[in-house]
Amino acid sequence: MEENSKPIGIFDSGLGGLSVLKEAIKLLPYEDFIYYGDTKNAPYGTKSVNEIRKLTNSVVDFLLDKEVKAIVIACNTATSASVDELRKRYSLPIIGIEPALKPAVELNRKGKIIIMATTVTLSEKKFKNLMEKYKKDCNIVPLPCPGLMEFIESGNIDSLELEEYLKGKLNKFTDEQISSIVLGCTHYPFIKNKLSQIVGEHVPIIDGSMGTSMQLKRQLEKASLLNNRTVPGKLTIYNSLDTQEIIELSYKLISI
Ligand code: DGL
Repeated sequence: MEENSKPIGIFDSGLGGLSVLKEAIKLLPYEDFIYYGDTKNAPYGTKSVNEIRKLTNSVVDFLLDKEVKAIVIACNTATSASVDELRKRYSLPIIGIEPALKPAVELNRKGKIIIMATTVTLSEKKFKNLMEKYKKDCNIVPLPCPGLMEFIESGNIDSLELEEYLKGKLNKFTDEQISSIVLGCTHYPFIKNKLSQIVGEHVPIIDGSMGTSMQLKRQLEKASLLNNRTVPGKLTIYNSLDTQEIIELSYKLISI
């Protein structure tokens, strides 16, 4: 198979990366995508960096066996733990994701920028460097959300229980001015509506899925790897849980 006709591999600890895949398909409709969700081993965000690296390595091996031409790590946590190491080891384009702090700062709104993400993402060097860059000019509040991805993993994106969880995390900020909320975990875009109900429609909620998809496109262009055809590409979804339900839920989330 010609190199540029090969599929793009994209993965996450579970279903969150589907929020990135959705944007990537819009931007690159003629590409084939292979999505891998590691739901069986989720969450990654409360594991040790070494454990995450091991899990990430075996997902990458799986995708390389499928002969992908590029890999998108559609998981902030896995990116923090593994992207540098993976780029050293492999020569194919590897695109990661990080909390979209830059666009949040550029909005130039008064108040706190709240970054919701996993504990690992917020404590790793990659995020510390990002904070360092912007913390002089704005009020950034990292907000670890252990337990939140589990709601999305079980398809629970509109319940009272979820509302209670989010209120518990955000009510302490609602009397103050919130500049914006950055979703630093790819699971969270699926609960954007619920979040807006709690903090108010006027608060911008930003995620990195479009930025990451644009970066994927740029990298493919640069390496002359864009697919030349003009018919819609194919999507194949795998999940380590290997049940009909999880695959069905994956397709459902992608169509929301
Ligand atoms: N979706 C993942 C992220 O972007 C993390 C969820 C988890 O496995 O804890 O960080």
